[in-house]
This record gives sequence, C-alpha cells and structure tokens, in this order.
Amino acid sequence: MKPNPSLLEELSKIRRDLTGLETAPREPDPLSAFFFALEGLSEMVVITDLEHKIVYVNAACTDLLGYNPEELMGLKANKYFEGIPGNPIDLAGLIAAEASDGFWEGEIFNRRKDGDLITINLKLTPLADSSGQVLGYVGISENITERKLMEEELINARKLESMGTLAGGIAHDFNNILAAILGNVSYARIYAEEGSELYKPLVEAEAACLRAQGLTHQLLTFSRGGKPVKEVIRVGELLKEVTGFATHGSNVSCRFDISRDLWPVEADRGQIDQVISNLVINAVQAMPEGGEIEVRAGNVELKKGAVPSIEGGRFVKVEVADKGVGIPKEYIEKIFDPYFTTKQRGSGLGLASVYSIVRNHSGAIRAVSEPGKGTTFIIYVPASKEEPQEKKMKEDIILGEGRVLLLDDEEMIRKVAARLIEQLGYEVETAVDGEEAVEKYREARESGRPFVAVILDLTVKGGMGGEEALERLKEIDPEVKAIVSSGYSIDSVMADYERAGF
Ligand SMILES: Nc1ncnc2c1ncn2[C@@H]1O[C@H](COP(=O)(O)OP(=O)(O)OP(=O)(O)O)[C@@H](O)[C@H]1O
Ligand SMILES: [Mg+2]
Repeated sequence: MKPNPSLLEELSKIRRDLTGLETAPREPDPLSAFFFALEGLSEMVVITDLEHKIVYVNAACTDLLGYNPEELMGLKANKYFEGIPGNPIDLAGLIAAEASDGFWEGEIFNRRKDGDLITINLKLTPLADSSGQVLGYVGISENITERKLMEEELINARKLESMGTLAGGIAHDFNNILAAILGNVSYARIYAEEGSELYKPLVEAEAACLRAQGLTHQLLTFSRGGKPVKEVIRVGELLKEVTGFATHGSNVSCRFDISRDLWPVEADRGQIDQVISNLVINAVQAMPEGGEIEVRAGNVELKKGAVPSIEGGRFVKVEVADKGVGIPKEYIEKIFDPYFTTKQRGSGLGLASVYSIVRNHSGAIRAVSEPGKGTTFIIYVPASKEEPQEKKMKEDIILGEGRVLLLDDEEMIRKVAARLIEQLGYEVETAVDGEEAVEKYREARESGRPFVAVILDLTVKGGMGGEEALERLKEIDPEVKAIVSSGYSIDSVMADYERAGF
C-alpha cells in the first residue's frame, strides 16, 4: 500500500526521534526506502499506535488476510485478535506486561477475511523514541499454519506407532484364541439341530465371536501389522456398495457424486471397505434424527505442498460428508487417537484404523467440521498408472478328497482347522513345526499315500516356519501344492504369496 499522509507524518516524527536515522543520507529519501523495504518483506508487518489502533499494514499482510488496507486502518489490533477463539483472552494485557521488557513473542490465531483461521508467529516490539517513550507497537508475524499441521501430523504418527505396537501384540494373541473359540462354536452350530435348545445360543455366541474378531481386526490394522494386500482397483462401485451396506436399516439416505472416469488406485479392497464403512457409520451416528450423507469421489492433481504429509501428483479424492452434530474444535485434533470416543458404546478405534490404513496407502486424511452443521472427511489416495485386472468369479464351495497336511504351532488352531477341512471331505494330518511337516510329507510319499496339499502357517514359535518348510518340500516334490496361512496379514509373504512360491 501507499502510506497515507497522516501515517507519513507520524513515522517521520519517529524518524526524527531515532538518532540512527538522523545521520542517514537525505537522497534518496530514507523514508521511502524504508517503506519499499517493508512492502517487499514476506513477513507481515503491522504498526499500531499506543491504543493498538492500526496505522500501517504492509502488502504481505493484506495479501495473506485478503483485506484492503483501508479496511484494517484504525481497527484495534488487540480486539481483533481477542475475538478469535483459542487466542489468549487478555492479549493486550499480556503484551503490555511483557512489552515493558521490550519484546513479546507468541503463536496465535489470525482470521482471514474469508473466515479461514491461520496460525501466525507474532513478534511484537514497542516503538519508542530516543527518550525511551513508547509511541506504539510494531508487530512482525509469519504464517506458520502449514508448519503446525505438519508438526501435528508427525506427533500423531509417532503416537499411533507406539500405540500400534502394543495393541498389535495383544490383538495377535487374542486373535488366535478367538479363532479357536469361533471354530469350535461354528462346528457345534453346524451339528446342533435347527430349533433345538442349543441352536440359538450357539448362533448368538458365533455372532459375538464375529464381532470380537472384527474388533481385533481393527486393532491389527491400525497396529503396524496391517500391511495392505494391494491390487489395482477402481473405488467407485466399492464406495456405493459399502455406503449402501453401512446405511442399511438406518434413517439416513445417501447421495453419490462419483466421477465416471475415476483413476484406478493400488489398494487393499478389504481395508478400503473398512475405511468407508467406519466413516459412513460415524456419519450415520452423527445424525440421530436422520438426514443425508454425501459421498463424492473425483480425480485431482496436487502440487507439492498443497496437502501436508503427501507428495504432489495424481490422486483420487474421496469425501464423506454429513449434516450431523459436527465436532467441537477442541476435539478435532483428538479424533484420530486410538480410544478417543464421545460415544457411550464406542471403542474409539474407528478413525484410528482409518488413519493408519490411509497412511499405509501413502495417502492423507483430513476432517473439516462445523459444530451444528456437519462434518466432511477428505481422503487422498495416490492414483495408479496400471489398469485393474478383471476379477475372477467366486467359485462355489466344492468338496474334495485326499489327504491334507496342516502345519500350525497352535494346538487350538490345528484342532479347529482340521475339523473344518475334514468337513470339506479331506483327511487331515497335522504337524507342529516345519521339521515335522517335512518328515510327514516324505513318509507319506514313500508309503504311496501322498498329500494332495499342504497348509503352512508362516510363523512357528521356536521352530521352522512355513516359508522354509516349503523350500524343503519343493526339494522332495517340485509339484507340491502349498497354501499359506497366517493369523494376520503382517507378513510380506501374505501380500505377495506367489513370489514366495505359494
Ligand atoms: N461424522 C462425525 N460427526 C461427528 N463426530 C464424529 C464424526 N466422526 C467421528 N466423530 C467423533 O470422533 C470420535 C471418534 O470416532 P471413532 O470412529 O474413532 O470412534 P467411535 O465412533 O466413537 O467408536 P467406534 O468407531 O469404535 O464405534 C467419535 O466418538 C466422535 O466424537
Ligand atoms: Mg466410529
């Protein structure tokens, strides 16, 4: 801006008072040089009088805040800042107290004309004449909004990582026990006659086990172990399917705005399903009186730095928007924390899993919310250059015959899996570790009753695991048919089983 005449007057008074400038050369006019320097700065500069009334703002300030200089002139800077929620109530008092020491610095919020909040680092010094009498204040501030977001993102990531390690360990053991319970209950249910005394409790126990399994899967996903098993897919249909399923039976309707030529992404179908259903279920729960959920998906090209924590490039952007209760400002930083919930029966793991799945897909997620109006979750997932493969049709269960060798170090799992495989018509032999499996396979071949397939558990406590066992088996029988099994998909072998020879 061009300095206004009264300000010029004011500042030349200051200039006269400042001994340093007294000796400055007359030509070119030091005052105009001074202004050009201020106007050219990338930091925002604001000068106020003693009452905090703004007498000057530089171009960086008006550019960033979106105001005309005239709109800011005469405004009381302290009142302006104090009116923004989250800022210290008595900013002027604080500044006055510290300014007597000659300096005040702090991070505070600033609001742009369009209403957006930004975070600035403000340094404030009193403007004094040569006798030390304070004439006003100079504020120099830097926009640190992006940097703060990055820092928060990093803290969040670290916190989740340590929580994940702990939760993953518990969930793994728990999952094994659950598999045994579920297997036995399912087995009993198959044999209990429908309508008998036993049937209903068994169905209920089975349903409860499945819910518990869902919970451990959530835990495993957000722990480090949830390595996605990726394929190239287009998410359009999946979004509709999952949203439809998650809103089924509720009083919420769905609207879709999904671009027809959506770029494919490399993603784990099951995990993307989990992300969308978690978001949609939250949206439904945020609208107890019913309402509408809008699911949008489209292609975007992002410049580097446009969204913190991801590189620039081609992305598929998915949004899930509701018109529900919204999220209060003080909660918005916590919603992705594991176990953070405001619901009586919530686990608080929904968004924690969503967050870690999105990160494991090299994407980013953000929530925008206005209490009373609604919430929108925005997800970016990198687009893939490859085209999706045609999906094979699911085959019906076929009964088989022959002998199957099952390797698993957990006795409970061995028993239950053996029973279920027997249900499919096979005869089952079991082994507790790789050595035993290899030995049994050799004996069976030599005795003329070979196995038609082997099922190998990848990790065996204190013994030879599935991967090594398979190598040995191949030496005995290059045609061996092996199926990999693991309690969870942490292993890279699960993500790429064909390369490991399965
Ligand atoms: N769409 C939304 N609208 C309003 N608040 C939300 C929304 N989504 C999440 N929240 C808030 O974030 C919190 C955490 O959500 P999260 O999905 O992680 O857990 P939860 O829904 O409480 O429990 P769970 O998903 O395990 O049933 C919620 O308790 C709620 O306060
Ligand atoms: Mg939830």
